[in-house]
Amino acid sequence: MPSGLLPALPSHEIGNGIEPEMTNAFTPIEILRPTILEFGNGTITSAARFAERIGARRPLVISDPFNARRVDTLALPGAVKVFGEVKPEPDLPNLEKAVAMAKQVKPDLVVGFGGGSAMDLAKLVAVMCTSDVAFADLVGPEKVAGRSVSLMQIPTTSGTGSEAGTRALVTDPVSQNKQAVQSRFMLADIAIVDPDLTVTVPKEITAATGVDALAHCVEAYTSRKAHPTIDLYALEGARLVGRYLERAVADGDDREARAGLSLASLYGGYCLGPVNTTAGHAVAYPLGTRHHIAHGLACAMIFPHTLAFNMPAVAEKTIAVLGALGLPERNDPMHAFEATYAFCKNLGVEMRLSALGVPKSDLGVMADEAHAIRRLLDNNPRDLGRDAILNMYEAAF
Ligand SMILES: NC(=O)c1ccc[n+]([C@@H]2O[C@H](COP(=O)([O-])OP(=O)(O)OC[C@H]3O[C@@H](n4cnc5c(N)ncnc54)[C@H](O)[C@@H]3O)[C@@H](O)[C@H]2O)c1
Ligand SMILES: [Fe+2]
Repeated sequence: MPSGLLPALPSHEIGNGIEPEMTNAFTPIEILRPTILEFGNGTITSAARFAERIGARRPLVISDPFNARRVDTLALPGAVKVFGEVKPEPDLPNLEKAVAMAKQVKPDLVVGFGGGSAMDLAKLVAVMCTSDVAFADLVGPEKVAGRSVSLMQIPTTSGTGSEAGTRALVTDPVSQNKQAVQSRFMLADIAIVDPDLTVTVPKEITAATGVDALAHCVEAYTSRKAHPTIDLYALEGARLVGRYLERAVADGDDREARAGLSLASLYGGYCLGPVNTTAGHAVAYPLGTRHHIAHGLACAMIFPHTLAFNMPAVAEKTIAVLGALGLPERNDPMHAFEATYAFCKNLGVEMRLSALGVPKSDLGVMADEAHAIRRLLDNNPRDLGRDAILNMYEAAF
């Protein structure tokens, strides 16, 4: 490990803020999944079949520029329209532009075709195109009144698992916060996970999005809200990342590795709805909102820091994560940090904030912002104070 990259593990904090009680099989949990899931190489053909079955005549595809160029591969029926301007880490103006187009097109089927950015916007377009409700009034859990158009989700990255979930994230350019809308009405009628769509993902995005999927699994697995019905997917998702991510980064055409990662990403998505992420994502968010670092990359840079910080509270589960990744299983936070840091670095992930243009003078404000994300931090297995977050940024600088 390079010097100066020690994890934020102030010894006096170990033992404080540790929450021994985890939820268990007796805790009620509600699990929502897309009505239809098509998984596997070649399943993209089910997009046209589904659209024809529901009699879609005006499909609207929500896509980033890369995927917008290959919408024909979906072979959708009717007068297909494409909003092809989804930005990475979409912001409010980007969403508003997509909704404005949808209000003109009046689609009967909305298709999210791309990574998490496109799928998140598709969820919101599907529920906003038939009403005049403002985005601000939808932020939070279950504020959406309903949905009257069909929704199909087709991921083309292996990372977010957004295809399987009820949540959408949009950055407010004024407050520079990621705002989350969660609604059962944003769950897809059909999710089509065809790993062949991901073979074109460049190495760096493959690596970063793969660690995002891993972070979803690990943060849910070690959350205060962790639940046995989800732990199964969480640990298996981590195992799939351990087995296939390096292979997919080394050879993007490795179809078995791509399929393994698509499954890991889907399992990560299963973790997000009922349990969700914790400190890793909270600490990563300001990197995206303030400095436009891609979500997966931000999560990868922060992952070893929060994993090691949390280890004293969830030692057994952290050891299981190390094992799932094929790393030595030792009850030692420093080892957990070094091993997972090396895991990310070996994938070619840039692990230093300074290398990505984050000014040191911003770390304090970033720590304030991350610390305010209570919806995630309140479920972290260890209380994570503002100064401990700052320590992490400094260690990662
Ligand atoms: N809804 C959720 O539960 C959830 C979970 C995690 C992340 N997110 C959100 O998802 C967004 C990030 O999504 P992402 O990591 O998938 O990245 P992304 O959707 O922003 O895409 C990243 C880049 O990859 C390109 N790309 C996508 N598919 C490609 C392919 N097959 N080949 C080549 N290039 C391709 C895109 O054009 C884009 O430039 C963030 O806004 C994040 O907050 C949502
Ligand atoms: Fe994520």
